[in-house]
Amino acid sequence: MSPLTLDRVALFLPCAAGTEALLADECARLLGSGVGVQAGRGGVAVHGDAVTAMHLNLHSRLAQRVLWPLTHGPYANEHDLYALARGVPWADWITPQQTLRIDTTAQRSPLQSLNFATLRVKDAVCDVMREATGARPSIDTHRPDLPLALHLSPTHATLYVDTSGQALFKRGWRDAQAGKGEAPLKETLAAAMLAAADWHGRAQDGALFDPCCGAGTIAIEAAQIACGIAPGLQRHFAFEKLLPFRTHQHDWQRMKTQARAAQHAPAVPIYAGDVSFRMTDFATQNAGRAGVRGAIEYKTADALQRLPPCARGVLMMNPPYGERMTAKGARGGDGIQAQSHQSREAFDGGGGPTEFFSRLAAHWKRHYAGWTAWILSPDMKLPQALRLKESRRVPIWNGPIECRLFRFELVAGSARDSANTPSISA
Ligand SMILES: C[S@@+](CC[C@H](N)C(=O)[O-])C[C@H]1O[C@@H](n2cnc3c(N)ncnc32)[C@H](O)[C@@H]1O
Repeated sequence: MSPLTLDRVALFLPCAAGTEALLADECARLLGSGVGVQAGRGGVAVHGDAVTAMHLNLHSRLAQRVLWPLTHGPYANEHDLYALARGVPWADWITPQQTLRIDTTAQRSPLQSLNFATLRVKDAVCDVMREATGARPSIDTHRPDLPLALHLSPTHATLYVDTSGQALFKRGWRDAQAGKGEAPLKETLAAAMLAAADWHGRAQDGALFDPCCGAGTIAIEAAQIACGIAPGLQRHFAFEKLLPFRTHQHDWQRMKTQARAAQHAPAVPIYAGDVSFRMTDFATQNAGRAGVRGAIEYKTADALQRLPPCARGVLMMNPPYGERMTAKGARGGDGIQAQSHQSREAFDGGGGPTEFFSRLAAHWKRHYAGWTAWILSPDMKLPQALRLKESRRVPIWNGPIECRLFRFELVAGSARDSANTPSISA
């Protein structure tokens, strides 16, 4: 049987809500202006072929996945879904020895049971395979060779091959054994913050500094951008095991070789720190695994005391947020001892979030005039807590949490702000 040729299709790249336009810009930049890219709700459609799908998997920092559409049509019940899925030549995609998994999402679907819908699509795949080859593939919910995504709108079903497999925020550098740190951002969200700030690691973008770095995601993402390191170079993708992509193995090897050759020294410095030694140590190890240890300068320090690491730059952080707050940092302790983090409570500045933010703003007004600060927070009243007026407010969802990415232009504070801020040397 001759291999299935993957003609141009409308690939779909889901992303975090609020980041669609940023992802569309990224796709246009990665693929060139001639390629059709259209931002939609929850993702971006890109006209492309197998090479485009491979390229986006390797290089996109904002997409959650790269989905290849197989079939699309109206449905009213599970039988319609079975019939739709039966129309796909599954034996062109996998062998019976390979495995599959189907993930179903729905928006106002009339169906009673999504599980049953999933089951019927699985039956269709297995029936087609058995008829074509005499055997059927099995299910692997953990690491399937063929991950399928079924999306149900109120009237239409679309079935995709998820060419990524594991979600693209998994860059391959986090150590599963070592834990995750305190509420780490997804890499895709950190990349979206940097993109929203129009920070691309060029000399004109200036230094980047995350003073509450936790596991280091923002700094590591920034350093990889600054060093031209493709986000997908350290991992594998589902398409590598799929039959139609075998004919593109040369393209894939060439793409990876080109990506490795494109790495370079950073044009800007990147700084990070955390009040917890445990976190700076952890972030340092993460940076090592991500290949950017030399591009980031880490320091265990209290953000309420730390002086600017350089004259000007961009501050970027997602500060701790939570209901219960502990007191450490400048007031409550030496701020550099290892802490046992309890979830959602590590606000280290003494006195809770309001005091933390007012002291942070006072410190910034005193020492960080000329810097631009970007803060991701679910707290819509953050500017009031900081007593700063934001110059931008970008809606971004952190999973199910609605957030804003606030931009503040830091200018020298008033005499009153300075008088209230304790004088601290480095
Ligand atoms: C929400 S986490 C940041 C997560 C990080 N963006 C990541 O992806 O891993 C907030 C971090 O702020 C740190 N932190 C709390 N108070 C601090 C302070 N006063 N100075 C510096 N870091 C602080 C905590 O130790 C925690 O690691």
